[in-house]
Amino acid sequence: MRNDFEKAIHFRHACKLFDHTKQMNTEDLHFILEAGRLSPSSFGMEQWQFFVIRDKEMREEIRKAAWNQPQITTASELVALTYKKKVRSSDAYIQNEFDKFHYPEGVRNMYKQFIDPRDDATLECWSARQVYIAAANMMTAAASIGIDSCPIEGFDKESVEKIMGLDTENYALAMLIPFGYRVNEQPPLHRSELSEIVTYM
Ligand SMILES: Cc1cc2nc3c(=O)[nH]c(=O)nc-3n(C[C@H](O)[C@H](O)[C@H](O)COP(=O)(O)O)c2cc1C
Repeated sequence: MRNDFEKAIHFRHACKLFDHTKQMNTEDLHFILEAGRLSPSSFGMEQWQFFVIRDKEMREEIRKAAWNQPQITTASELVALTYKKKVRSSDAYIQNEFDKFHYPEGVRNMYKQFIDPRDDATLECWSARQVYIAAANMMTAAASIGIDSCPIEGFDKESVEKIMGLDTENYALAMLIPFGYRVNEQPPLHRSELSEIVTYM
């Protein structure tokens, strides 16, 4: 199991060009989405929504608004990871989560104290952070079954949201992740040594 995980994290890299002739199967896509769904989130609020963008014209438009990055149109699947904007304790989505999972009063109060006083921008940032955890799990899950990915933040957020027809009252785009199969050899990973980034205290 440890070896399998190690293989996956070495296989994953930011794939710059996908083989547009190779299609992933639905089972594999579900496996990846499931890794996102089961990811941890603060207070378990799952404040994410994933969109699988298959419409070819939409993908072409998104590519233009995403620095013309070829991954957007060459990948087998394109997943847009969005976060929920209305996450104060009184918001319908949060109320629903509280009820759905039978959160005790103590947790609801803690949520109120911790979340409600924050300003909108801080809350958006907090919600987006949860999405990045799901994103990482999805990419590692993909790598574990030999599927490549590339995290993409290089896009004009408002333009892509508009192209997607996203309900921006409630959602905002955090990241795009194309999934598929590499064309080129994987370049060597550039990483600092553990001794440079870990401090034992
Ligand atoms: C939040 C985030 C945004 C990124 N945006 C882009 C992007 O728009 N285009 C791209 O080609 N790579 C993007 N990357 C990939 C990084 O450049 C890449 O992960 C890093 O250079 C390390 O390379 P590796 O993942 O191949 O090891 C992004 C990575 C992250 C985590």
